[in-house]
Amino acid sequence: MTVTKSTAPGKIILFGEHAVVYGRPAVAAPVTQVRAQATVADAGEAGVRLVAPDIGRDYLLSDAGANDPFARSVRVLMDEAGLSELPDLRITIRSTIPIASGLGSGAAMAAAVIRALALHLGLKHLATDERVSDLTYQVERLLHGTPSGIDNTVVAHEKPVYFVRQEPQNRIETLTAAKPLRLLVGDTGVASGTKIVVGDVRRQWQEDPERFERIFDGCGRIASLARRAIKRGAVRELGQLMSENQAFLREMTVSSAELERLVAVAMSSGALGAKLSGAGRGGNMIALVTESTEQDIHQALLLAGATGVFRSILS
Ligand code: MEV
Repeated sequence: MTVTKSTAPGKIILFGEHAVVYGRPAVAAPVTQVRAQATVADAGEAGVRLVAPDIGRDYLLSDAGANDPFARSVRVLMDEAGLSELPDLRITIRSTIPIASGLGSGAAMAAAVIRALALHLGLKHLATDERVSDLTYQVERLLHGTPSGIDNTVVAHEKPVYFVRQEPQNRIETLTAAKPLRLLVGDTGVASGTKIVVGDVRRQWQEDPERFERIFDGCGRIASLARRAIKRGAVRELGQLMSENQAFLREMTVSSAELERLVAVAMSSGALGAKLSGAGRGGNMIALVTESTEQDIHQALLLAGATGVFRSILS
């Protein structure tokens, strides 16, 4: 029996979430501490069985609805390969990335399934980072309407990126930090669906385009400055830029009481900067720390109600 495995990491947005949907630059990075893993195995029974043990689901592809993200990942690959049928398979997805937490769990699961299935079927040309990213984007469109493309890019390439959504091709620049950035990722424990929050920002933008264009411009400017600061190793400046970005996210109404509490506690415990990461209204926040402040800030976040905290080094 042939078994093929593939994994994809979670992601954090360091600068520019939401504004990136409207063509402003953003910076994001993979977080390898949490991952999705897909396993594709030849099956002894007829059909394609989709198994997600973490959420207790086990069903046939032929029974899955059009909006099922797992099935959609399989169907997107089938369409791209021009396949109307698959051999009998068992596809299992497991993930340690919390769902609806801003860490890109949907994109990572889709990327892992698409790559594992492409490799299993011998479709190597569809298993490259670029193709996996494009196909994951198609799944993301189902999950949250108007994705910018940053999540699929980061989880498929597994590299920190400076990203601009643009036609005919997105600008994707891989970033290397001159000095490693030490980040703590703190979970509010509050689930928040990206599609809803992105839709809500869109409604507000439609109601007051001038104000929101100004906010998005501010976020874009911050992301451009951050790109240079990352390359120069200007860690203190990056902290300041994170806090400025958080102020704009607050104005967009995508922060929340829980996020604000964790951001405030991180700052009063010595973080160089802190902000929410991802769509907001819940999910995770990030804090820029140093070797000497990390331990205190980690403890303070837990005491302030974070349901989980982990470290991510961007280098
Ligand atoms: C979600 O990780 C980031 C958002 O900017 C949405 C997107 O870019 O598609 C909120």
